[in-house]
Amino acid sequence: MTKRILITSALPYINGIKHLGNLVGSMLPADVYARFERARGNDVLYICATDEHGTPAELAARAAGQSVEEYCAEQHEIQKTAGEAFGLSYDHFGRSSDPSNHKLTQYFAHVLEENGLIEERADEQVYSVTDERFLPDRYVEGTCPHCGFEKARGDQCDNCGNLLDPVDLIEPYSAISGSRDIEVRETRHLYLLQSKLQEKIASWVDGQQRWPSLTKSIAKKWLNEGLRDRSITRDLKWGVPVAYNGTPRPGFENKVFYVWFDAPIEYIAATEEWAKKSGEDWQSWWRTDKGADEVTYVQFMGKDNVAFHTVSFPCTLLGTEEPWKTVDTLKSLNWLTWYGGKFSTSQGRGIFMDQALELLPADTWRWYLMANAPESDDTSFTLESFAGSVNKDLADVLGNFVNRITRFCNSKFGLEVPAGGTAGAAEHALYAEIDRRLPAYTEYLAQMEFRKAFAELRAMWVSGNEYLQVAAPWTAYKTDPEQAAVGVRTGLNLIRLFGVLSQPVIPFMSARIMAIFGETEPYPAWPEGKAVDILSTVKPGTAFELPEVLVTKVEDTQIEEWKDRFKAP
Ligand code: MF3
Ligand code: ZN
Repeated sequence: MTKRILITSALPYINGIKHLGNLVGSMLPADVYARFERARGNDVLYICATDEHGTPAELAARAAGQSVEEYCAEQHEIQKTAGEAFGLSYDHFGRSSDPSNHKLTQYFAHVLEENGLIEERADEQVYSVTDERFLPDRYVEGTCPHCGFEKARGDQCDNCGNLLDPVDLIEPYSAISGSRDIEVRETRHLYLLQSKLQEKIASWVDGQQRWPSLTKSIAKKWLNEGLRDRSITRDLKWGVPVAYNGTPRPGFENKVFYVWFDAPIEYIAATEEWAKKSGEDWQSWWRTDKGADEVTYVQFMGKDNVAFHTVSFPCTLLGTEEPWKTVDTLKSLNWLTWYGGKFSTSQGRGIFMDQALELLPADTWRWYLMANAPESDDTSFTLESFAGSVNKDLADVLGNFVNRITRFCNSKFGLEVPAGGTAGAAEHALYAEIDRRLPAYTEYLAQMEFRKAFAELRAMWVSGNEYLQVAAPWTAYKTDPEQAAVGVRTGLNLIRLFGVLSQPVIPFMSARIMAIFGETEPYPAWPEGKAVDILSTVKPGTAFELPEVLVTKVEDTQIEEWKDRFKAP
């Protein structure tokens, strides 16, 4: 039965092109999963967007010497292009600054207020006399009260990871002017009364059957501490205005909604945008009274985003008392580190998506990142291990296999799958291994256990090579061409099977493999059934084409050059 699966990956901040750590933290695993579920014949909707509001956007625009509108428009295109070049198969890549998100965010705030869940409160905020403005979140920096780090930002300390309130900083200074002429002034903000939603969220969390235990424990930790009312507006210009139906809220003319309030709502608004463009119905994905009760909703994100998705955003949705679709399962990832340290956008440390593609094709990064995804622990990225995995897994194991079989077949039997012979012991041993590994691979992908999944895929590639060692059609050909034909035919079938199975993770290479047999998208269904049948799909007499070399190896000199260029420690 076809399932409808809604997939979202945490929205990347607009403040510059994303690094490989961001990529593997949400967008890439979401893409792999989306591709897998589509290949299984399910109806998948994969939505992402740029997260364009808040202080990161304003500060980055200022640093770039652009207006924030101009900056965001330009960076959105850059991220969109880079995503496409990486093969990220979004159905829609939206912008949280789009009018649809403005409207929907204002709508949510309105309904929450009608339900008695929003209150105006006087608040103490850091104010810069020199800059004549409030300094919310990252507009103020200073010394962390927890660890003493001197460049902690108003919303979070990058050194110890603690979440902060700007007024907590010791010796604060303005991130705009550097001025220390700072006071605490009163300002008014809207608060979402999450404390009133404690029971509702607790029982909703308890009812979740499919969350990983880590996810549930993060949500429970927040619930145990007691949900706190949360300010959802800021003294900023750029963002969603605090208004409803075109009328600004009195006293809030110079304020906007907080970025973490409007960003997750963009998951829905981006779906609206997608529906407009494709003539589809967005409500059937998001309203349980309009068909979304049959949807499975899966979210992907880095571990720092879990609380926002399991508590804060659900407060917004459930607080409306309206039938909005909520998350069914959630995949959270740990950090990818740059040689054990931090990838950093602000400090330009690590390799960024555009740079990666200047070095090697997308699939090489996709493979390495997913086969080593930071699932149970943080994982260190090094150029040495990246090169090792490209050279071994992709070039020696997969690439070499494809090359060897197709070329040998061409030299002895021509560009056609040879007939004759019957399967013997070597083939049956191979079938047994595929019958074990293929269901395991499928199940791991379904569970989003990516490292384990790709270890199985790699093992299937290896088993192809081992089979060839035993079947040795090049030797058999001299005495028994029929026997050699079995080996070659089985090898060609393995190539095609690898093409189908590898598609979620290395879609570009997979397309080239499928092109050997003249097959283009949509690819044949995800293989089910017995290996003996699966490996007889390509029949004798089928024509094929010789492929170009699938992957070129990385040279030691290249690694040295890259380490130098990217200042690897
Ligand atoms: N931009 C945020 C980050 O990179 C993620 C936003 S996810 C959303 O941490 F749900 F708010 F959209
Ligand atoms: Zn700190």
